[in-house]
Amino acid sequence: MENDLVLSGRFYYRGKFQDLMVGIKSGVVTEIRKAITGDRIMKIDGGILPASTDTHVHFRDPGETDKEDFPSGSMSAVYGGTTTVMDMPNNVVPITDYERFENKLSAIQGRSYCDYGLYSMYNGNNAEVLSPKSNGVKIYMGGSTNASGVTVREKDIPLLNAMNVPVVFHAEDQECLKENSFEAKNLREHNLSRPVVCESKAIGKALQYDLKQRVITHLSDYGAIVGTSGNKTVYEVTPHHLLLNDELDIGSNGKVNPPLRSKEVQSNLLAHYLSGDIDIVSTDHAPHTEGEKEDFQFARSGIIGVETRIPLLLGLVSKHILDLDLFYRTAILNPARLFGIKKGMLEIGYRADFISYRASNLRRINPDRLHSKYPLSPFGGFEAVFPDFVMMGGNSILERGEIIDDRLGSFQQKGVG
Ligand code: DOR
Ligand code: ZN
Repeated sequence: MENDLVLSGRFYYRGKFQDLMVGIKSGVVTEIRKAITGDRIMKIDGGILPASTDTHVHFRDPGETDKEDFPSGSMSAVYGGTTTVMDMPNNVVPITDYERFENKLSAIQGRSYCDYGLYSMYNGNNAEVLSPKSNGVKIYMGGSTNASGVTVREKDIPLLNAMNVPVVFHAEDQECLKENSFEAKNLREHNLSRPVVCESKAIGKALQYDLKQRVITHLSDYGAIVGTSGNKTVYEVTPHHLLLNDELDIGSNGKVNPPLRSKEVQSNLLAHYLSGDIDIVSTDHAPHTEGEKEDFQFARSGIIGVETRIPLLLGLVSKHILDLDLFYRTAILNPARLFGIKKGMLEIGYRADFISYRASNLRRINPDRLHSKYPLSPFGGFEAVFPDFVMMGGNSILERGEIIDDRLGSFQQKGVG
């Protein structure tokens, strides 16, 4: 069996970097050896890792493509070393049934630079009509952009379980949000207007549902889950809750739900992440236009991040703050595993999705160089390591730090490679 391509370089394989050759056929890894002969051998510099999956993005397509669209969002993903995104269902017309799911799929078809999966939204009474193709189900327990807070009906739980996909909770309790709500004029007040207690309450409820695959996304306060162990739940955190807090002078670019917390809560979350207590880092990439971010009080909530997640984490790895294997598991392996896609690991039969980077390539993020339609990143000036090279399904899609190939992204059916 001839390979289409053989890669040669320093691959992260079974827990360490090793000089290897990797054979690829039809976009899939077919051989992993010290030496492989072949016609097309491609030498890759730097450390090579499987490319990443971001389990939480809002590309706003269709419906609000003035904020972002699949081409701009997916291009940003690729520049940031992410070759698969799971896109959220809170489009202007939310993805609450089979037909809307199909419409979204066909709207995106052929327009994405990276592979993608799509969530459906549970709205309290639509479990019967959710698309069986959904890669995940999103439940907003509290109101947010294009979504109002819902509770889960007991009778829907078997239906959700039968879908065999992660059920992902935005855990802010609606009642609690209402009780605490006021017009916040800065990050500190925004934090108080959607306090951590609303998150703990919602998590308490979410943990009671008898779900097979439960995910609490964008956990902002580790304190909210203390004492809940033994409950099979996947916890996700975002780079912004790990690295930013409500004392920073970043204005509405830091306005997000759940809010950035106090410095103390942030440091505690980061400490727990660094000691291995969190399963996944995803972004909640949630772009808004410049106009919508102008005046803090009326600004929409949401922070961009799909392009900076892996670079920021690689920055921490380079500075020996974050353990490489912990980074690999939380940003690359676990996200792909959770969604049952054959990515995130160098193994025979897995997709040939890779990135390469040089640890010495630490530089400060310049938001103007990001590829979102509105690059309003609060991470300007943070040190990061961007990938030099990205491959997806055996095709080089970014070389020497620039995108080179076209929109090759495809829909990732659950459980298929
Ligand atoms: O800040 C947020 N923005 N939180 C969400 O839950 C939704 C998101 C958005 O879509 O804008
Ligand atoms: Zn979100």
